[in-house]
Amino acid sequence: MIDAPGKKILLVVACALVDSDGRILLAQRPEGKSLAGLWEFPGGKVEPGETPEETLIRELDEELGIRTKVACLAPLTFASHTYDDFHLLMPLYVCRRYEGMAHGREGQALKWVRSKSLRDYPMPPADEPLIPFLMDLL
Ligand code: C5P
Repeated sequence: MIDAPGKKILLVVACALVDSDGRILLAQRPEGKSLAGLWEFPGGKVEPGETPEETLIRELDEELGIRTKVACLAPLTFASHTYDDFHLLMPLYVCRRYEGMAHGREGQALKWVRSKSLRDYPMPPADEPLIPFLMDLL
């Protein structure tokens, strides 16, 4: 049971996209969005009828021009964080096999970051607890 009485649950899915040097892609939330300026693992809201993997495949293409498939998405852990307006559940997948060069198709800044440097980038509070899992992995 999630102890967030009266709050809606928002299901977002996120991805640690890993390059051949073992660096992880962070995307900066753009002006005009909530938590603007903070760095996050790319992803987005799970739409009705989608599996989290389908959401990630769609979002990585829409946001970054990256193409991947379900077999290349490995679940690692998930974030569970109560915001003022909702409770966020956010599975984190790791993707090492994909096609395309990531570019911010929605104007967002991108950075490839070593796991030990992830803490140098201010993140939404839901994303920060995910860092140790990536430091263990990479
Ligand atoms: O990206 P989007 O604005 O659709 O995400 C909805 C909400 O989920 C954000 O306002 C933010 O509070 C939360 N979120 C997060 N970490 C992410 C993505 C979204 O905390 N990586």
